[in-house]
Amino acid sequence: MRVIAIANQKGGVGKTISTLNIGAGLARRKRKVLLVDLDRQGNLSMYALPTYKRTEKQADSIYSVCRGSAKFSDVIRGVEENLSIIPAGKDLDELRDKAITFDFSSLHYDYVIFDCPPAMQGATVSAIRAADGAIIPTFCDKFSFESLGEISLSMKALGRKINGILITKFNSRLSVAEQVKSDIITFADSIKVKVYPVVRDRVAIQDSQSFRQNIFAYDSKSDSAADYAAVAEEIIKEEK
Ligand SMILES: Nc1ncnc2c1ncn2[C@@H]1O[C@H](COP(=O)(O)OP(=O)(O)O)[C@@H](O)[C@H]1O
Ligand SMILES: [Mg+2]
Repeated sequence: MRVIAIANQKGGVGKTISTLNIGAGLARRKRKVLLVDLDRQGNLSMYALPTYKRTEKQADSIYSVCRGSAKFSDVIRGVEENLSIIPAGKDLDELRDKAITFDFSSLHYDYVIFDCPPAMQGATVSAIRAADGAIIPTFCDKFSFESLGEISLSMKALGRKINGILITKFNSRLSVAEQVKSDIITFADSIKVKVYPVVRDRVAIQDSQSFRQNIFAYDSKSDSAADYAAVAEEIIKEEK
């Protein structure tokens, strides 16, 4: 089982979109995938599960399992073939300053993928500790680039590796995006980390989100489906 944290302390850089679409991409390549929503906002849960309402039941999060008030079988929900999710609940607030230990040893998945909240504390730190490595999504702007240095230091302090940096919402018509992309590649080389195939800026991503579908279910012929399939393929290449 590979455990991957999708993390960046910066908000709005494509963590949640990438968690769902990487998970769906791996599931379509016959990997059994469990997504774990660790953001109390529950965006991943709402995006993956069309009927999910944040208020419907708040005892259904990963934290309920960790503190013993629920079993995995109570909280895991099927999304589609080979793809399941543990939604986020409001009880995640209690995790803000706490370390928790995730024990997936009773489960049989090829991948567990955490969608982390936008802060390098609590749930994110616990997820990174539980993971073999992290994927760091980033946009191609100056501020996003600056936060990469910070997260790479945090990862080092936690003793975990960065599997790779994932450029999302890439717009090649913006000269600043091209410039920042080359800065990201140089930075990644300097810390010996790969850069995943780029995910382009496309409205299909936003539309799929409105329809609460992953990109493959929404439009399997879209550029975005091809982009996330390429990322999933690269992750599969890392399997040993
Ligand atoms: N490849 C893309 N093309 C267009 N919009 C994107 C793309 N990736 C992300 N976005 C948009 O960026 C916003 C933030 O993405 P999200 O995954 O929620 O970020 P985070 O989880 O890091 O806060 C969303 O509104 C999403 O629609
Ligand atoms: Mg998010």
